[in-house]
Amino acid sequence: MLPKINPENTDAWLNLNDHFLNSDFELRQLFAENPNRFAEFSVKGENFLFDYSKNLADEKTMELLLNLAEECQLKTAIDAMFSGEKINETENRAVLHTALRDFSDREILVDGENVKPLIQKVLGQMKAFSEKVISGEHKGFSGKEITDVVNIGIGGSDLGPVMVCSALKHFKTRLNVHFVSNVDGNHLAETLKNLNPETTLFIIASKTFTTQETMTNAESAKGWFLKSGSEGDVAKHFVALSTNLEAVKKFGIAEENVFEFWDWVGGRYSLWSAIGLSIVLAVGYDNFEQLLRGAFDTDEHFRSADFRENIPVLMGLLGIWYRNFYGAPTYAILPYSQYLDRFAAYLQQGDMESNGKSVDRNGDFVEYETGPIIWGEPGTNGQHAFYQLIHQGTELIPADFLAYVKSPNEVGDHQEKLLANFFAQTEALAFGKTEDEAKAELEGSGKSEEEIRKLLNYKVFSGDTPTNSFLFEELTPFSLGQLIALYEHKIFVQGIIWNIFSFDQFGVELGKVLAGNILKEIKTGTEVTTHDSSTNGLMNYYLSKK
Ligand code: F6P
Repeated sequence: MLPKINPENTDAWLNLNDHFLNSDFELRQLFAENPNRFAEFSVKGENFLFDYSKNLADEKTMELLLNLAEECQLKTAIDAMFSGEKINETENRAVLHTALRDFSDREILVDGENVKPLIQKVLGQMKAFSEKVISGEHKGFSGKEITDVVNIGIGGSDLGPVMVCSALKHFKTRLNVHFVSNVDGNHLAETLKNLNPETTLFIIASKTFTTQETMTNAESAKGWFLKSGSEGDVAKHFVALSTNLEAVKKFGIAEENVFEFWDWVGGRYSLWSAIGLSIVLAVGYDNFEQLLRGAFDTDEHFRSADFRENIPVLMGLLGIWYRNFYGAPTYAILPYSQYLDRFAAYLQQGDMESNGKSVDRNGDFVEYETGPIIWGEPGTNGQHAFYQLIHQGTELIPADFLAYVKSPNEVGDHQEKLLANFFAQTEALAFGKTEDEAKAELEGSGKSEEEIRKLLNYKVFSGDTPTNSFLFEELTPFSLGQLIALYEHKIFVQGIIWNIFSFDQFGVELGKVLAGNILKEIKTGTEVTTHDSSTNGLMNYYLSKK
């Protein structure tokens, strides 16, 4: 059982509130006052640096935030998760994505059964299968090697693998891996346009094997395949990743083509499970294992490091500082790596589906803010799109900057320019440009007094926009695993403090049910009168034009 403490009733929360009201942090001043600020507000891992010195926080803030973690019994909650307690209480499930990457010899029990051998068995199956496909030993129905893999899944059965496959492009095998998620038939149609059924392998990835989008795409993909191959050939071209073995069988996928996982793996935390098969095919099993090892490295850090040095704990607490005390509604994820182009999209589900909740663990509505809106795009593209608002808009937007020292592709001085932008942006966001500086600059450019008076306010940057910086040596499967797990645990920390259940997602149910009913009505084709006037109007317009 998780602790069920209303954070607003803790001493730390009250103290943080007082502290917030009595301090008016300015980063220029914080840095000027403490020459050791960078050293004191950063953590060095073996292969990366986490710098949180550009936050609107001093020693006292950190101390109070750490008190909050203590009072909310974060340590107890971490231990409960890792040990396999059923902390997903609303679904009566353990939360054990960490078991999928646990390379220790500890046993992990769920209902008295050690799950480690089950995990090893599926990993062995993924390794053997992927080696056969990559080597060309596994042939399609006409005797040709598989060249293309299409993963059909959505949400957690899509976003994690999409993000990782994009991030690890540089480690690609000979296979081309594609992803189809949207029930919009154009997604499937455009993907299949250039594919040959003789050389295409479909992965149907669905934890429940009932998700409308995935089942619809899977049926249509099968239909496409059966125009060339026969029912008997399906086994060579379709595999399933699921916890619902019955439904997989009904769909017509042979038992030996099923890669199982379990209800204690949450969809948005499932890329480490059989759901990672597309990753294994895209980059090879050894690289997938490195990804797992990287996540395990973070897990060990998270469960054992002192909270003062514990990166996910610090990330989570600082996020709470901005969300609950500064009232910052959003949080930006800004990777200075094109390889991380899907990282923010991935975290949107990870964070928002986990912590977008308003009922606490006692079943009461919360009276404080919970999960922020997560968004972002790779820099430097973002700089030419939305950074204007971060620099000079009216909202405080805390952000994480992510980058790699080395690039696998040495292209002229691109990497230096990329990193120069990273460093410059965090500096500009933190320290801005004062009125005096802006004035001096305008004077230096020869502007008249009248012109300066007109322009001055536009040229001022308030600064004091807080950022964390992650600087990894290299983007490898291992360091990517570390990074993803850091964010997974940050989300956990925040969910614990907000006293919410981070591992259910009842908020996605209503729309699914309504869509099912509406689909039946649309299919009859007759005028709709059963809804509100707007929904009726939209449906009838659609029916009249289709
Ligand atoms: O969006 C709701 C959700 O249940 C997610 O949590 C999940 O990742 C996604 O749908 C896909 O579910 P499944 O893997 O069961 O098809």
